[in-house]
Amino acid sequence: MTTTSTPVPRSLLVDRIGVLVTNDPGAGEGRLGRILDAALVVEEGRVAWTGPAGRAPAADARVDAAGRCVVPGFVDSHSHIVFAGDRGAEFAARMEGRAYEAGGIRSTVAATRAASDDALLARATELLGEARAQGTTTLEIKSGYGLTVADEERALRVAARLTEEVTFLGAHVVPQEYAADPAGYVDLVTGPMLRACAPHARWIDVFCERGAFDEEAARRVLTAGREHGLLARVHGNQLGPGPGVGLAVELGAASVDHCTYLDGADIAALADPASSTVATLLPGVDFSTRAPYPDARALLDAGATVALATDCNPGSCFSTSMALCIALAVREMRMTPDEALWAATEGGARALRRDDIGHLRVGARADLVLLEAPDPLYLAYRPGVPQVAAVWKDGERVAG
Ligand code: NIG
Ligand code: FE
Repeated sequence: MTTTSTPVPRSLLVDRIGVLVTNDPGAGEGRLGRILDAALVVEEGRVAWTGPAGRAPAADARVDAAGRCVVPGFVDSHSHIVFAGDRGAEFAARMEGRAYEAGGIRSTVAATRAASDDALLARATELLGEARAQGTTTLEIKSGYGLTVADEERALRVAARLTEEVTFLGAHVVPQEYAADPAGYVDLVTGPMLRACAPHARWIDVFCERGAFDEEAARRVLTAGREHGLLARVHGNQLGPGPGVGLAVELGAASVDHCTYLDGADIAALADPASSTVATLLPGVDFSTRAPYPDARALLDAGATVALATDCNPGSCFSTSMALCIALAVREMRMTPDEALWAATEGGARALRRDDIGHLRVGARADLVLLEAPDPLYLAYRPGVPQVAAVWKDGERVAG
């Protein structure tokens, strides 16, 4: 599907929607706020009205959904799309039995450092377009393949051309040149690198895992980031049990991502009503690294807030497909289709602490997806089949 951009009508009526998912329990049925035989009106890039088809106010332009369904645009709260090179050979080796290790990141670091600014921007722009054509209307983008002051800063400049949700991940792994002095690298990340990078980012992230950063180093990174006005998010509990989840909750991080290996204390911490940390599950990574899937059922049953994201990156999951995440979450993680769709939309918005996206309440950004399907269940029911008919972001048609 090509990405197109057409002039924005002042108001737009999307009419004859078979199922409209608003994620607003006040507007429709259930947690997804479903309205059947619905219409939706967009004005000035925002949702202005939702309700039964036939009762909608007049608008400048009209799209006939012809009984198909409309859902909020996907909010993919975790990606690493500023990079060069590819690691297809590493994937092939994994499929022959080799384990995924954090060290593979260093090969992307070498390729990224060697790439021009233009090449990095072109590749990231292409991947953003690919995501958009599949219904993603908000994409968080991290640095983390530069790992020098200059290379991290330019990755963030590239990311900031493409999204508002920019994350500084200088603490991705310790680069080769600091292998003998990992503490010196943490000094760099929390000092000169942070000073150069903080103005370009909203978030700070750290890979708290064996082979990357331990709990103490991760705490230092996140605390220093906070002192520079950045909000925390964490990569944790991906490769084994560890301190990532506990640290994220302790520091009030917006999200802890992966959560593949959780113990009872981790689940209790995430489910604690006093915690606002979202558990962001990345099933594409578990699929592509042949890891076990996280226990989404235990998290949901305990009351934790769960988001789904792709983690698109060249190593652990080279996919921009939120529909794939939904299908895996339903088939492999025992989430219901409704829970998975909520996690891929409103869940992602919560992981980014955004209340203007992830739902189609009146006043929300008009980020919406028309699916070539009579029901959003089809996202999981027809895995691997392109089902996005059109995408609007801020009321502007950006795909389809
Ligand atoms: O989220 N876990 C750390 N970082 C990425 C992987 C990056 C890579 O392998 O290049 C992730 O899975
Ligand atoms: Fe990641």
